[in-house]
Amino acid sequence: MTDYVLEVQNLCKSFGGVQAIRDVSFTVAPGEVLGLIGPNGSGKSTTINALAGVFPATSGQIVLGGTYVQHLSEHARVGMGLARTFQTASVFPEFTICEQVSLGATVTLASHPLSSVLGLGRSASEQECLQARVKDILELTGLASLADQKVGTISSAQQRFLMIATALAASPKIILLDEPAAGLVSHERKMLSDMIKAIRARGTAVLVIEHHMALIMEVCDRIVVLNFGSKIAEGAPSEIRNNRAVIDAYLGEAV
Ligand SMILES: Nc1ncnc2c1ncn2[C@@H]1O[C@H](COP(=O)(O)OP(=O)(O)O)[C@@H](O)[C@H]1O
Ligand SMILES: [Mg+2]
Repeated sequence: MTDYVLEVQNLCKSFGGVQAIRDVSFTVAPGEVLGLIGPNGSGKSTTINALAGVFPATSGQIVLGGTYVQHLSEHARVGMGLARTFQTASVFPEFTICEQVSLGATVTLASHPLSSVLGLGRSASEQECLQARVKDILELTGLASLADQKVGTISSAQQRFLMIATALAASPKIILLDEPAAGLVSHERKMLSDMIKAIRARGTAVLVIEHHMALIMEVCDRIVVLNFGSKIAEGAPSEIRNNRAVIDAYLGEAV
């Protein structure tokens, strides 16, 4: 048995002749926030996509809550507690915020997604439980006041938070966020960092890729640094900030 929510062992991924990641290993403990940083093209998104099962890893193991999942489908991994947000919003503009988040919860339910959203084929207690979960998530992501608004009418920052809410609805053990602060202005970034801390406080682990170093240094318990597809450092934010190899490869002298 493992105490980690996620263990990545010697993960490699090649695209034709390009080795995007090589021998990447790290662990994430329950309720931990792990940052994944590095220059553009260093393999961060490839790592998250291989973990989520968007494409198979070339070699290496992925252990989710003690089970090897590298051969399982993307959908199966979501069902086992690994959720991710998508760069492009996979939302239905005509749905309300509340319906969209409810849809995210259906991966954990037996019934068909659409009948789930409509509340068909589900017991009253199941329906109540889902409603309470959705309400809690909307509050956590700052969307509660918009619950009955159509998805197509909200701002791009709110759409971003909605994607996080939809991923959380699946009750994941770990959520993967690829550059969640991209395009957000300062006060929205503050909302995001508060959101990540609230997710951790509820016991869900977070793996976050970000270029905003202030945000990374504030929310992460530990940071893994990639360069040219290899892990070059791992440690607490204070250690990473002062690591010579990381400063040379990525941070520069300013941080
Ligand atoms: N689907 C793909 N097909 C071919 N090459 C890819 C693909 N995805 C990523 N790569 C290559 O893998 C390397 C790592 O990319 P990526 O993981 O997107 O980096 P990062 O997210 O750190 O900026 C880059 O050289 C990129 O061009
Ligand atoms: Mg990327």
